[in-house]
Amino acid sequence: MRKKIIAGNWKMNKTAGDARSLVADIMKLSVDASKAHVIIIPPQVYLSEFGSLSKANGVSIGAQNSYPKNEGAFTGEVSAYILKSLGVEYCLVGHSERRKYFGEADLDCLEKVNALLEQGLTPILCVGEELSVREEGKHFDHVKKQLLAVLTSVTPTELTKIIIAYEPVWAIGTGKTATTQQASEMHSYIRQLISDQFDAKIASQVYVLYGGSVNDANAKELMSANDIDGVLVGGASLIFTSFEKIISAVKS
Ligand code: PGA
Repeated sequence: MRKKIIAGNWKMNKTAGDARSLVADIMKLSVDASKAHVIIIPPQVYLSEFGSLSKANGVSIGAQNSYPKNEGAFTGEVSAYILKSLGVEYCLVGHSERRKYFGEADLDCLEKVNALLEQGLTPILCVGEELSVREEGKHFDHVKKQLLAVLTSVTPTELTKIIIAYEPVWAIGTGKTATTQQASEMHSYIRQLISDQFDAKIASQVYVLYGGSVNDANAKELMSANDIDGVLVGGASLIFTSFEKIISAVKS
């Protein structure tokens, strides 16, 4: 049985002091590890401080980005190999902001996923369509293309170590959450796609999260839907009271 994953992507937010106090508050929560797993994804500069907290209290630490070489002359980059040495366990790949502002393409996602898997880190592979794509009715094809770019090159065992996050771009940071039905039908589609590429057993083991304007008012309903194994939260993860309510939505 898949438990729920609640991941907080802080993006480029929080000064050092604010980051410390938010993490301290989250660490005080009692998370029932049999039901929920919390992942905090702060800016890279805080990972050396927070990485050592990974696995404490049912909470893990994730990175927002990684570079697919281990070490070398790649100024400004941080590799999966270095992240591992900090205790980081998860890493986002292909977030729509990386795709839009930093030109991260499907092939880059594949390289990053491979490098992360090689180091034993769990990639959180983000996929999702822009509004124009949905309006044209091509959202399933779009997500399929993004997913297959990675899934066709990994083994079944590797796939069970990858988390997928469906994040419709039009819902990110806009306050426009996908309806539970819209999210649910895409999640079922993703699981069916995995089942077709691999098999139903593998498909049942893969976590598929929803992201895009998740907040304390909609998290519970989203997470109650079949095939939605948790949420990737941006804005609402920056406010302790909201994030806490999203986590408790799993328990209640
Ligand atoms: P949001 O961001 O919750 O602020 O919409 C989600 C994300 O980008 O992961």
